[in-house]
Amino acid sequence: MTEVVSLMDIDEDENQNHSLKPNKGKNVVVASTLPDSKATPWVEKYRPHSLADVAAHRDIVDAIDRLTSENRLPHLLLYGPPGKGKTSTIFVMARKLYGAQYQNMILELNASDDRGIDVLISKEYNAYRAKSYVKLVLLDEADAMTKDAQFAMRRVIEKYTKNTQFALICNHVNKIIPALQSRCTQFRFAPLEPIHVTERLKHVIEAEG
Ligand SMILES: Nc1ncnc2c1ncn2[C@@H]1O[C@H](COP(=O)(O)OP(=O)(O)O)[C@@H](O)[C@H]1O
Ligand SMILES: [Mg+2]
Repeated sequence: MTEVVSLMDIDEDENQNHSLKPNKGKNVVVASTLPDSKATPWVEKYRPHSLADVAAHRDIVDAIDRLTSENRLPHLLLYGPPGKGKTSTIFVMARKLYGAQYQNMILELNASDDRGIDVLISKEYNAYRAKSYVKLVLLDEADAMTKDAQFAMRRVIEKYTKNTQFALICNHVNKIIPALQSRCTQFRFAPLEPIHVTERLKHVIEAEG
């Protein structure tokens, strides 16, 4: 096991726990949390704020919308090429589930980060969980995990399945072991049709004048 991130540095103020996310600068910056600055890249500024803002993928969005409304969301595995709305969909889903404080309830990990999975199986994580509000574990680049790490991940999901939602994101679903795939409901984010991209771009153009 590689070095485990020191979650012992946890700030006592629970409201600050989002700053502890053991992720090397890959966290999604949600535009609504930033001052409305000209420096905010449009790609973040126009990241979808609600499921309705997600272009295309209506079948997926409707399914996730229904499952969240019915409060019976399964663990999720979203896959497909980069830049198709996978991360955005998880974040707007979390906002719908948990409200304005949703960012404090997500533990965002990146599997290509050498600390990724080790964080979840560390003693420190257990201590961290016990005093945090984490409800959703988002594991990005899940296909970067070794097979061993994926088996460990499967055990983590089993252990926390009752009170934690897991969402895995990857580009290549065939790199995910069947044991992990079978614990998640899978959604494929196909490339967008030009019409959907054009519509979204028109929205940006109008908003920016
Ligand atoms: N389906 C979509 N609808 C609206 N915006 C999108 C969509 N897909 C991508 N984007 C834009 O591209 C950016 C990156 O999308 P992201 O959700 O991070 O993609 P992925 O996780 O699939 O790589 C978002 O901030 C958003 O601005
Ligand atoms: Mg992403």
